[in-house]
This record gives sequence, structure tokens and C-alpha cells, in this order.
Amino acid sequence: MTNSQPDPRWTEVDDYFTETIAPGDEVLTAALADSAAAGLPEIAVAPNQGKLLHLLALTQGAGNILEIGTLGGYSTIWLARALPADGRLITLEYDPAHAAVARANIARAGLDKLVEVRTGAALDSLPELDAEGAGPFDLVFIDADKVNNPRYVEWALKLSRPGTVIVVDNVVRGGRITTPHPEDPAITGTRELFDLVAREPRLEATAVQTVGTKGYDGLLLARVTS
Ligand code: SAH
Ligand code: DHB
Ligand code: MG
Repeated sequence: MTNSQPDPRWTEVDDYFTETIAPGDEVLTAALADSAAAGLPEIAVAPNQGKLLHLLALTQGAGNILEIGTLGGYSTIWLARALPADGRLITLEYDPAHAAVARANIARAGLDKLVEVRTGAALDSLPELDAEGAGPFDLVFIDADKVNNPRYVEWALKLSRPGTVIVVDNVVRGGRITTPHPEDPAITGTRELFDLVAREPRLEATAVQTVGTKGYDGLLLARVTS
């Protein structure tokens, strides 16, 4: 699925922000390069978005992070770099080939002691995490198959505590979120996500539209209140 192509100005400004205040490093660059070389789709968060996740995790003082949708581990590295030495991040990935690339990228980043890449459908792994008592998580980043977004938010709530922050990527998709009769299950899934968040008294939420190197998209931010 593609978003609207980025306007050259959006890319220019994103590059400016990234170069001035959100630069990556060789480890992050290598993670993207090895992901591309392995044929993974080039849909990781942009560097300035990765930095946003990093800052949110720091602001939360997050010691226990859950990510749904690993790809090559690029967002994982940004998030895990906010963890204290005894912190932990569990990231869920369906595709074993993606998980293998991610594990190598995470090891090169020196984060393999803190990060577990769990292979399998997230809807199978999430009840396992619950049974293991892996929660509560301080921050949950949801960025996998969009059709399951409502289920993922329900699980995030179940594995949360008051104060947990939940971030959902890609809730705008070039503006198609408001298509009157969406046939795309990714869009209907995200609409169900908004319905769920709207009626869920334990969540205080907003969503913002974004433009940049990834085109026109947006993210939802929610905080668990009780
Ligand atoms: N968070 C990553 C990008 C994730 S792309 C980053 O920004 O760097 C979405 C990922 O979700 C893909 O790797 C895809 O294989 C994975 N995915 C899709 N369906 C899934 C499912 N049911 N369970 C777990 N992961 C899934
Ligand atoms: C797609 C998925 C993403 O998580 C993303 O950030 C951008 C695009 C996609 O499936 O096309
Ligand atoms: Mg995404």
C-alpha cells in the first residue's frame, strides 16, 4: 500500500530537521541499508519520527517497551536506545525473514541483551506475553498490519498501567482514512480503532497528520488514564 508521494518540499524540510537536530549514526544507517539489501519494504519510520519515539520513551522513563511490527528493527533501535541498562523491549514480527534481519541489526547496535524479537503473528504472541506476566508496558508502539489495529489497542490496554502511552503509526494513509465507503481493510481497521478509542473511557487520545519523506500520513497518541 502506498501513500501519496511526498512533495519535494516535505522531503527537503525533513532532511533539514534530520541533519540539524535528529541525526542518525552508522548503526541506524546500516540497519536501513541491510534491510533494503535483504529486500525488506522501505517503510520504516523516518529518522525524525524515530527520534520522536526515542524522546517519548525517555519522557515516559520507559523501562518496559512493547513494539508490534518490527520489520528490520529500525524503530526498535530508536526506542531501545531510550531504555535504562536493566530495561527491556519486546518486539513482535510475523515474518521470520524480517525478524532475522532485525536481530542482526539489533545485535550490531549492542541492544540484543535488552531486546527480544518474537516471531509469529502478534495476535498469537500477545496472549503469550499476558500469560507470562510480561507487562505492564510503559510504552506501546503499534506499527504492524493495520487491519488488526483495534485488536492491538485492546491488547495494549490489557498489558498497560495508568500512564502507559500508546502510539499507532499510519492512521492517515494519504487521507484515505475518511473515504466514505472504504474497501481497504487497512482503512476499515483504522476506523474501528478510532471508534474503539472514542468509546474507551480508559484512554485519553489525539491524532496528528504528518507530512515528510514518508508522504502524507499521521499518528495516534493515547494515554491510559486508569
Ligand atoms: N516498526 C518498523 C516498521 C514495521 S513495518 C519501523 O518503523 O522500523 C510492519 C511490520 O509488521 C512488517 O515487518 C510486517 O511483516 C509486520 N507484520 C505484519 N503483520 C503482522 C502480524 N500479524 N503480526 C506481527 N507482525 C506483523
Ligand atoms: C506501510 C506500512 C507502514 O508501517 C508504514 O509506516 C508505511 C507504509 C505499508 O504497508 O505500506
Ligand atoms: Mg509504520
